[in-house]
Amino acid sequence: MIEWNQLGFSYIKTNTMICAHYKDGKWGEIESRTDDNITISGLSASLHYGVECFEGLKAFNCKDGKTRIFRPDENAKRLIRSATYLGIEAPDIEMFIKMVRQAVAENKEFVPPYGTRASLYIRPTLIGVGAQLGVKSSEESFFFIAVAPVGNYAGGIDAPVPAVIAREYDRAAPKGSGSYKVGGNYAASLYAGIEAKKAGYPAVLYLDPKEHKYIDEFSSSNFFAIKGDKYITPDSHTVLPSITNKSLIQVAMDLGYTIERRPIPVEELDTFDEVGECGTAVVITPVSRIDDKPSILGKECTKVYNYKACGPVSRKLYDTLTGIQYGEIEDRHGWCLEL
Ligand code: PLP
Ligand code: COI
Repeated sequence: MIEWNQLGFSYIKTNTMICAHYKDGKWGEIESRTDDNITISGLSASLHYGVECFEGLKAFNCKDGKTRIFRPDENAKRLIRSATYLGIEAPDIEMFIKMVRQAVAENKEFVPPYGTRASLYIRPTLIGVGAQLGVKSSEESFFFIAVAPVGNYAGGIDAPVPAVIAREYDRAAPKGSGSYKVGGNYAASLYAGIEAKKAGYPAVLYLDPKEHKYIDEFSSSNFFAIKGDKYITPDSHTVLPSITNKSLIQVAMDLGYTIERRPIPVEELDTFDEVGECGTAVVITPVSRIDDKPSILGKECTKVYNYKACGPVSRKLYDTLTGIQYGEIEDRHGWCLEL
């Protein structure tokens, strides 16, 4: 029995994983597998050279009893963009959505019941496979979609988290892979994450890797801030184009806020009313404070920002976005795909 209200963000084995293999210039049949282990060559470029990209999206059991998937077309497009960067074949939008639908349909009993505020996390993953030694993209790719029921990634909307600025580390290079959802970006953020955890910070905030003057994003979510009636988020080539952020921008505009997408100097942190992380996994996680010091583990700490509970604007944005996702608020932009 799954305790729907106790779910965090961990993998729970579900019924099936939906898979497809691209080989000899074409995709094979879509397969449903009960085993979540896969067999690939040990010489696959995904294992040696990081030829891997992935997506994250969610399905919701809604107020009207229907199950809906949030903006899968956006994830399909982003996966294609990441795969193009890696030089591997990705499923087209139609195939991606068909497989996502099948993954949700075959695991329907794992979509948390309406009212629990939990959801089914969907993890499409694309890897370069086939034995090779040289550093090049793979001619073969393997695409699979795993799902798992999830609750809060961190503490949730009522539990703001402290963050630290990664002064010693970058997750991306100035003209590198930062805006693509490739595994290597996450590998590059793990060590800072380990240090941050030791120092008591669940969240690490990265600066622009060229000048280290502007806010970029967190290791697994975008940055947004509220100042008066403004929703402010970085304009940067090294951050992942978040689908949640894009949706929140629209929601904020619908609610009458002004959007500012622009470089955000670190010093400006002092002036914000509210700061939050946003992303599929974190939804909106309010940030309680952001510390800026020469080293994550260092003791000297300049607290540049502080607030204790989720701010009212972040709360309104969260309630509106999740209201649309759970079918409580009209989906006026047509974001939710009915199963
Ligand atoms: N930034 C990074 C680095 C991420 O890993 C994620 C998670 O997907 C996001 C931002 C948020 O993107 P999205 O809202 O599309 O999930
Ligand atoms: C997501 O929000 O979907 C992510 O991919 C973030 C993280 C779990 C890697």
